[in-house]
Amino acid sequence: MSHSRLHPLLGRPITITGLGTYVPEKVVTNDDLSASLETSDEWIRQRTGIGERRIAGPGVCASDLGILAAREALADAGLEPGAIDLVITPTISPDQLMPATAARVAHGAGCDNAGAFDLSAGCAGFVFGLAMAAGQVASGVRDNVLVVGAEAISRIIDWEDRSTAILFGDGAGAAVVSALPGGTVSSDGGAARLGILGFDLGGDGSGADSLSVPAGGSRMPASCETVQDRQHYLKMNGKEVYKFATRVVTKSAGAVLAKCGYAVEDIDLFVPHQANLRIIEGAVDKLGLPWEKVYTNLQKYGNTSSASIPLCLKEARAEGRLKDGDLVLLMGFGAGLSWGACLMRWGTGA
Ligand SMILES: CC(C)(COP(=O)(O)OP(=O)(O)OC[C@H]1O[C@@H](n2cnc3c(N)ncnc32)[C@H](O)[C@@H]1OP(=O)(O)O)[C@@H](O)C(=O)NCCC(=O)NCCS
Repeated sequence: MSHSRLHPLLGRPITITGLGTYVPEKVVTNDDLSASLETSDEWIRQRTGIGERRIAGPGVCASDLGILAAREALADAGLEPGAIDLVITPTISPDQLMPATAARVAHGAGCDNAGAFDLSAGCAGFVFGLAMAAGQVASGVRDNVLVVGAEAISRIIDWEDRSTAILFGDGAGAAVVSALPGGTVSSDGGAARLGILGFDLGGDGSGADSLSVPAGGSRMPASCETVQDRQHYLKMNGKEVYKFATRVVTKSAGAVLAKCGYAVEDIDLFVPHQANLRIIEGAVDKLGLPWEKVYTNLQKYGNTSSASIPLCLKEARAEGRLKDGDLVLLMGFGAGLSWGACLMRWGTGA
């Protein structure tokens, strides 16, 4: 392919300069769950690929996990907390409705002068956060933005509902987005641009009720009835979400590749949101991507929503599966319904 490509992300070149993650120590296996729910290790593995998940200890909330991931990402980027201009926290399990969980994350990570806000885009939250950060840094409005997916999903799970309780886990993942001095590393020896290349973000609010926490907001304010009816827990139409996810992953992946002038064959690593192995396998099959180019770790963590992609990126890098110059496709999808794809050429040019 030619190296003179049009880049849909205008402005100065930007990239991810640091990654950080945190998962709680406590491991809950499928067998542990089947002690209190009518389910089995075999059923869960067969339908979802999940083997175990991490669950935060008593009193631990999303910002506690996010702060630890944020600190690690700052150290990884070699940045002092004061260098961060903005903290964005995608989350489906915020500490509170208000203030923003991001405010506590920013404070806990020492980024006290940074603006901070939460972002609600379901399990597409991390990619949406990355897109907001990218726009800010590419345009020169900010220099360093910290995106911190922070999830204590176990707090909004109905542990009596076997169709959802088996799927999710707690965790946090953070990325620092900064300007790139300008590098020319590419996996094929050419002069392809490093860093974040482009995004495809989408939504379909007609599916809003397919995956939601019905009560606790202005739509269904908290009352004795909402508590009795278990309406403060996550509810999901599994089949609808499954169909939606397999459909949008291929569509959105194709859209971002086309925008950036690449083809499926150019992808070195595909990092999808870790919802369900069957969804990922179906989408990868439709895309025509070899399985060696796909990263998964949901076997260990379940669905950690906005933390899942950074959790994969950091592990992939540590295992040598994510290298400078690699063309990486990130793909998030979830409540909203919402989806987001990001294409980037990994590396800082340093
Ligand atoms: C949740 C999911 C695994 C369920 O699989 P499914 O094949 O659709 O299963 P169904 O809901 O049709 O249920 C089939 C049967 O298994 C049962 N079942 C549901 N959960 C079960 C569990 N944990 N253990 C055992 N049986 C279970 C159902 O009660 C149903 O029983 P029935 O046939 O007697 O009524 C699947 O729909 C899914 O993965 N959806 C997407 C979820 C997701 O990724 N959400 C997050 C997106 S960000």
